[in-house]
Amino acid sequence: MGKRLNVGIIGAGTMGAGIAQVAATAGCDVNLFDTSQGALSKAEASLEKVLSRLIEKGRIDQQEKERIQSNISYVNRLKDMAGADLTIEAIVENIDIKKQVFSELESYVCDDCIIASNTSSLSIASIASSLKKPERCIGIHFFNPAPLMKLVEVIPAVQTSEAVLQKSVEIISDWKKIVAVAKDTPGFIVNRVARPFYGEALRIYEEGIADFATIDWSMKNIGGFRMGPFELMDFIGNDVNYTVTESVFTAFYFDPRYKPAFTQKRYAEAGYLGRKSGKGFYNYDKNRRPIDM
Ligand code: NAI
Repeated sequence: MGKRLNVGIIGAGTMGAGIAQVAATAGCDVNLFDTSQGALSKAEASLEKVLSRLIEKGRIDQQEKERIQSNISYVNRLKDMAGADLTIEAIVENIDIKKQVFSELESYVCDDCIIASNTSSLSIASIASSLKKPERCIGIHFFNPAPLMKLVEVIPAVQTSEAVLQKSVEIISDWKKIVAVAKDTPGFIVNRVARPFYGEALRIYEEGIADFATIDWSMKNIGGFRMGPFELMDFIGNDVNYTVTESVFTAFYFDPRYKPAFTQKRYAEAGYLGRKSGKGFYNYDKNRRPIDM
């Protein structure tokens, strides 16, 4: 048996925690890093809950749960990534912060470590430019929730070497995911197609044509979607989703097709982030109900 793949995950929020679970389930040695101790504790507690539920459903046994958990270490120093073969960054969607973290990270990892970003919308070429060896940088974009969603977009930048692309595709396929190689353009494939889905729903609401619940109901029961646009925005997080829309809009030279909606901006500003804050377009206390502005 070859050496176990050592994977570093930077950011233990919604995506980082999910990606750590995927890698640990595939048998990798995972170090999950965050600057916030709270985020690390939350990720650990949430994994415990998710795996216990899988046992209840009869999908895994206690031994498998313990195996997955023992594959993950929760760390609070970036230098704990030193032994990584692959790192995947899932921190805040901000190009300057990502570049700063990538540049520091490169000083700790070995020369052939692949340094990937889970960014939803930012330029991989720009992130790669913060590295001394930009050819090792690539986009590896999971969808939420990472353990359930099969698709992963793999995005080579202009600087990315063919070997890094091949190796990344190989690893993600080994993790039982379906890979779509996408070009390094704003929003890649899925997040670009998704912008008008959210945007038009928000405009229909703003024009007073229908409320959130009616739009969601229609898209599910008539449109055949698994989730309506407002439920989905609450699931993703209004802050994350708004930032991605703003980033795609800006990157496409302010093409009005991707113009963000004030409604979403106000909800994000109010802290109505969706499920993660208990309130978004819907209230997530005992009885779910829509919150109109
Ligand atoms: P989140 O807000 O749930 O988690 C971000 C985590 O990063 C937090 O725990 C925070 O403490 C940590 N963090 C922030 N700055 C840091 C730093 N400098 N060093 C270390 N940790 C730091 O965000 P989420 O939703 O997990 O998104 C993370 C990335 O994944 C973003 O780039 C986002 O665009 C992308 N993404 C998000 C998806 C979603 O549905 N939420 C889907 C696919 C990609």
